[in-house]
Amino acid sequence: MIGIFDSGVGGMTVARAIEQFCPGFPLIYLGDLARTPYGSKSPAMITEYSHHNTDFLLRQGAKIIVIACNSAASAASVSLCRQYSQLIIDVIFPAVKKAAAVTSNNRIGVIGTRATINAGLYEQRLHALRPECKVYSQACPLLVPLVEEGWLERRETKMIVKKYLHPLRDKQIDTLILGCTHYPLLKKTIAPRIGRRVHIIDSSIEVALHLKEILDQDTTLRNTLYAPETPSRFFVSDTPAPVHALAGKIFGRPVLLEQSDV
Ligand code: DGL
Repeated sequence: MIGIFDSGVGGMTVARAIEQFCPGFPLIYLGDLARTPYGSKSPAMITEYSHHNTDFLLRQGAKIIVIACNSAASAASVSLCRQYSQLIIDVIFPAVKKAAAVTSNNRIGVIGTRATINAGLYEQRLHALRPECKVYSQACPLLVPLVEEGWLERRETKMIVKKYLHPLRDKQIDTLILGCTHYPLLKKTIAPRIGRRVHIIDSSIEVALHLKEILDQDTTLRNTLYAPETPSRFFVSDTPAPVHALAGKIFGRPVLLEQSDV
């Protein structure tokens, strides 16, 4: 199974994209809702949680791990790759690859949680791939709670999005990376406020395409993971009230959430 974890249900945008681009590969998802949000926590704490999440997924039979949380990827991907022999992929590299490929003026914006923006991993990886590019990063800490409240197209949300994007508009970016699992749900609100000509990179789609590429190339891995009869399972470490609604909205169908012992 493909193990996927996030701090909550936002990573289901990644799970949904993987389901669409890699049909027949069952998923095992963990949303660490008991300890969410990660975006406001220290790198050490996020790293510790990410190790617990990975251990849980491996115990459930995951053969590879997708870090579907930008905050966790920023803080913990190096540590996880060092500790585990399994293939570990994260949401950052595929988004960076796409952004580097589509920018024509080399001015790229990144929005994410404080943990993601402070870690600077998007910047590092963008510069490694395209040294001449200028990266403008903006932490948007209010957006995750707004999405979780379901305030996707409320007037207040539009105003806050506009305020956060204002500095990036001034920098004349032509590409914007949505560096947080929750932000794809705000795409309709973000697009007109950053400018219609700006390419918006949705990391959930990019990681799914990246995984598809890996599975197309690696037949051994493909054969290990391909099991169209096996249903995907979705675990959460706690079930606060609005979570089922948000999960249903992401998948477009009701999702059974099982309790994990993380
Ligand atoms: N999943 C987190 C991310 O992508 C956002 C939610 C949180 O702060 O835990 O950064």
